[in-house]
Amino acid sequence: MDFTVSKLTPEIGAEIRGLDLREPLDDETLAQVRQVWLDHVIVLFPEQEIDDDQQIEFSRRIGELELINMAALQMRGKPEIYRATNLNDDDTLMAEDHPIMQTNRDNQRWHTDSSFKRIPAMASALHARIVPDSGGETEFANTAAAYDALDDDTKKRIEDLVVVHNFFWSRRDAQEVAFTEEEKAAIPPVRHPLARIHPETGRRAIYAGSHAEQIEGMSWEESRDLIDRLNDHATQARFTYRHDWKVGDMVLWDNRAALHRGLAFDAAHQRRRLHRTTVAGTAPTL
Ligand SMILES: [Fe+2]
Repeated sequence: MDFTVSKLTPEIGAEIRGLDLREPLDDETLAQVRQVWLDHVIVLFPEQEIDDDQQIEFSRRIGELELINMAALQMRGKPEIYRATNLNDDDTLMAEDHPIMQTNRDNQRWHTDSSFKRIPAMASALHARIVPDSGGETEFANTAAAYDALDDDTKKRIEDLVVVHNFFWSRRDAQEVAFTEEEKAAIPPVRHPLARIHPETGRRAIYAGSHAEQIEGMSWEESRDLIDRLNDHATQARFTYRHDWKVGDMVLWDNRAALHRGLAFDAAHQRRRLHRTTVAGTAPTL
């Protein structure tokens, strides 16, 4: 199948036009799309009129899907679909004190999906169904390009470091309201390389973000200082792309080489609903 590729920014992002994701891609096209995705970290497919089942089928071609670990965030009857939204099941606005509203605010911090799991997610695909008039964009940062741009001393310093990612560190404001004891016990802190090697491209990438709590073998202060510094470095404008959603946009990104965050919008009045599928990783990072 023929499609066109254009870059979104010099360091991150490509747009693919000419494919209809309602139809299964043939193997050759899939391999080409996969290469564009590996090269550019995020791929935008505009104007896709897909439903949940078509999104699940497309994502499954990338890899096996994660199931959503929090009942309140699932699409009813479809545990593969994560609803990124400020809307209830009937599309009415959630109350300001709804636990999901806090989760949404937490997602405004830079993070990689599922980095709090021992086998973290490979990819995420987000499809826009309802978008606000303004705000609610998603920003993406290329953490492999950011790693490449580090000075040699910093590269050497972080080469063998292990960082602990902990969901309840990044969600420290939300945990009392949003999670059951069972859900908490299912997500213990996990260890990852801070300069993670991408299993497909072989490139190193900074593996931090807001789930990163502490670096092993360092004091709390030293560790927080380094994590914050690396996050600031990786999210400089030159490594990032800001996506302003239009209904029908599908964005596929590589969680092994990207950080992302949602931007704020008027969630008390404006409606936003995007559906995410999450492709599972294949092996632990250590
Ligand atoms: Fe996310």
